[in-house]
Amino acid sequence: MNTRNFALTLSALFVAGALTTNAFAADNLADFHAEQLSCDACHMESGELSNDNLSFENGKCQECHGTLEEVAAETDRGNYNAHDSHFPGDVSCTACHAGHEQSLNYCDSCHSFEFDMPYQGKWQRNEPSIAKLQQQADERKAALAAAPAASVDVLVVGSGGAGFSAAVSAFDNGAKVMLIEKEPVIGGNAKLAAGGMNAAGTKQQQAKGIDDSIELMTKDTMKGGRNLNDPALVKVLVEDSAGSVDWMTKMGADLSDVGRMGGASVNRTHRPTGGAGVGAHVVQVLYDNAVERNIDMRLNTRGVEVLKDSDGSVKGMLVKGKYSGYYWVEADAVILATGGFGKNNDRVAKLDPKLKGFRATNHPGATGDGLDVAAEAGAAMQDLQYIQAHPTLSTKGGVMVTEAVRGNGAILVNREGKRFVNEITTRDKAAAAILKQTGGTAFLIFDDSVRKSLSKIEKYIKLGVVPSQSTPQQLGEKMGIDGANLTGTIAHYNELVASGKDTDFERQQLPRALNEGNYYAIEVNPGVHHTMGGVKIDNQTEILDSNGKVIDGLYGAGEVTGGVHGANRLGGNAISDIVTFGRLAGEVAAKYAAKQ
Ligand SMILES: Cc1cc2nc3c(=O)[nH]c(=O)nc-3n(C[C@H](O)[C@H](O)[C@H](O)COP(=O)(O)OP(=O)(O)OC[C@H]3O[C@@H](n4cnc5c(N)ncnc54)[C@H](O)[C@@H]3O)c2cc1C
Ligand code: HEC
Ligand code: HEC
Ligand code: HEC
Ligand code: HEC
Repeated sequence: MNTRNFALTLSALFVAGALTTNAFAADNLADFHAEQLSCDACHMESGELSNDNLSFENGKCQECHGTLEEVAAETDRGNYNAHDSHFPGDVSCTACHAGHEQSLNYCDSCHSFEFDMPYQGKWQRNEPSIAKLQQQADERKAALAAAPAASVDVLVVGSGGAGFSAAVSAFDNGAKVMLIEKEPVIGGNAKLAAGGMNAAGTKQQQAKGIDDSIELMTKDTMKGGRNLNDPALVKVLVEDSAGSVDWMTKMGADLSDVGRMGGASVNRTHRPTGGAGVGAHVVQVLYDNAVERNIDMRLNTRGVEVLKDSDGSVKGMLVKGKYSGYYWVEADAVILATGGFGKNNDRVAKLDPKLKGFRATNHPGATGDGLDVAAEAGAAMQDLQYIQAHPTLSTKGGVMVTEAVRGNGAILVNREGKRFVNEITTRDKAAAAILKQTGGTAFLIFDDSVRKSLSKIEKYIKLGVVPSQSTPQQLGEKMGIDGANLTGTIAHYNELVASGKDTDFERQQLPRALNEGNYYAIEVNPGVHHTMGGVKIDNQTEILDSNGKVIDGLYGAGEVTGGVHGANRLGGNAISDIVTFGRLAGEVAAKYAAKQ
């Protein structure tokens, strides 16, 4: 790794002793600590940073402060706890706390909790584009002129479900593997998936007497995708889905609960028993398996450019470590598992102007880097214009409110206190309807019976995004909704529930009347959720160029690819996609590498 510049600076400062005195007031953590401690409280004796994970430095934080769990025990603020996240893997202190710069609370990349963090700056991300990085001619040239800093058979880019599945599967097929991730934490969008993983013909379904088939899941998937899906990819998705559930189960996952998400004809959404989020669970299990296999995992490391031999086949990748700078990794095969671009509103709005200015449910790394890297390597793209919005992102706290709240009985009303849509219609229709209401937002309204039916709601309440009152009138007054109308709307809705038929909006399922205890409201509007399009792959995950020719040694899996979901992804099909195609990419790439 290129740590020379850093080593020089640091050792020079050590020798000079210039910064060990408390000559100036602390405005960052290192200065604060340096008032009592020397530089080597956090740094190695050599004066170099250990690596881009900052493994050594984080070990030092923990030696004095304890593990994340131990710190968490002291920072429970009642409604939320910065040190008790829903992230999988081992979250390092430096994911949020910086040494010599302002700290940035990573939670704020999605939420807006207003933690009072020591030496905190306002959350922002000013990551240069891939094109910019590729243009940094001097650094790039110097890195490429040097020997490769590492050599592996298969390099996996991205630590979501697709990347981890690929890494573990490549390893199990005999390859030496490295996995890189540009964020300071693992898991990408995959760690946020709460619903489940679709699969047909599984043992778990059989155990519950559910009759499903390859044909039925294919039909549902194609219908959901408006028949624009690539049938060859759907065939892989569906036929390998049960095998993927088995594969995950063998590695330690619990996917034994089977429910249903929108667009499915039968129950086929597999998830952990007891309501744990499927994505964080799947990533945690894959991460544990990667650790067990001793796979080289590098955080804060961005894949910048695919490097090719003169014959056009892949020979590795130029990467940029946040602290170590540019270097290149020699590899026979590179798997792009970089996810989608939902968090990059410039890119989103260019492709679908209706979504300009939208917030997103996605993690901050969902910028579409992989598309730029792939395009530069000659990859063809497909279906980029198909972008899915999730209808119910809370306007406060940045929390996505799960579909189950509506599924269990909540209604959607506008500021005038009126219903305006079949609440459980498809995501695209519900989102479009909300945008047409006054102010472009709507309110999820429910009562204590709905609250009792879904434990997730307790968490939203704890976060403070769910105001409540004892009558609809008072709730309306509090929220700026027409209270008289709201009272009338709820009374009328309860009559529809009693009659068993929604003659207003044809909602097919009316689980319960809203007439018990307190009333609650969550203000919501749509957020960009999933990007269906991406690089073009064949049914072996090989990335194709614009002539339909395979780019030798370059593979793609997961949300970075297009074609699997057509124009619209069904809930539960993405986790299935990333495990199945990630697993396949790992296997195919390992076999390809073995032949080089
Ligand atoms: C809130 C939420 C809930 C969801 N719920 C469900 C659900 O219930 N069921 C379902 O099926 N789907 C769900 N989805 C969709 C699903 O989670 C994603 O489509 C899927 O996880 C994508 O997985 P992936 O591995 O392809 O990408 P990601 O999990 O996004 O991983 C890609 C990783 O690559 C990294 N990366 C990007 N560029 C680079 C680079 N240049 N160098 C290094 N690393 C890079 C990113 O930082 C990221 O960590 C949900 C999505 C969201 C946002
Ligand atoms: C509280 C722990 C801590 C202390 C004490 C500390 N550092 Fe650091 N230092 C870090 C961390 C963490 C980084 C990684 C970059 C960052 O977070 O700012 C770092 C990075 C650096 C870098 C490299 C900057 C880069 O981005 O490449 C230099 C140089 C450095 N430290 C010098 C010093 C010197 C000199 C001292 C003593 C005066 C010192 N540090 C004390 C935690 C510390
Ligand atoms: C040699 C022991 C030591 C190391 C190493 C160390 N700390 Fe500290 N840290 C302390 C002490 C002592 C304090 C002051 C008392 C307290 O708040 O616990 C402190 C305080 C803090 C505070 C509170 C600051 C404030 O203004 O209230 C934070 C945050 C913190 N440390 C984070 C870190 C992080 C992150 C690292 C690693 C990069 C680190 N510490 C490394 C000993 C250490
Ligand atoms: C996800 C972001 C995040 C990570 C990771 C994180 N912190 Fe913090 N930390 C915060 C925030 C936000 C605060 C201030 C809010 C609070 O105290 O509730 C904080 C506060 C602190 C404090 C001051 C506590 C106090 O009582 O004032 C210490 C000490 C600290 N962190 C140490 C650590 C150490 C050690 C690690 C790694 C084991 C770590 N943190 C990891 C976000 C983080
Ligand atoms: C990448 C985006 C993202 C980041 C970063 C993030 N969250 Fe979340 N968070 C979410 C999403 C999405 C939900 C809703 C998940 C659901 O309903 O299952 C959520 C929900 C929550 C909830 C409420 C309900 C629940 O499911 O637990 C809490 C509390 C929470 N987050 C705390 C945190 C804290 C603390 C941090 C920082 C350590 C953090 N989050 C970082 C996306 C994020």
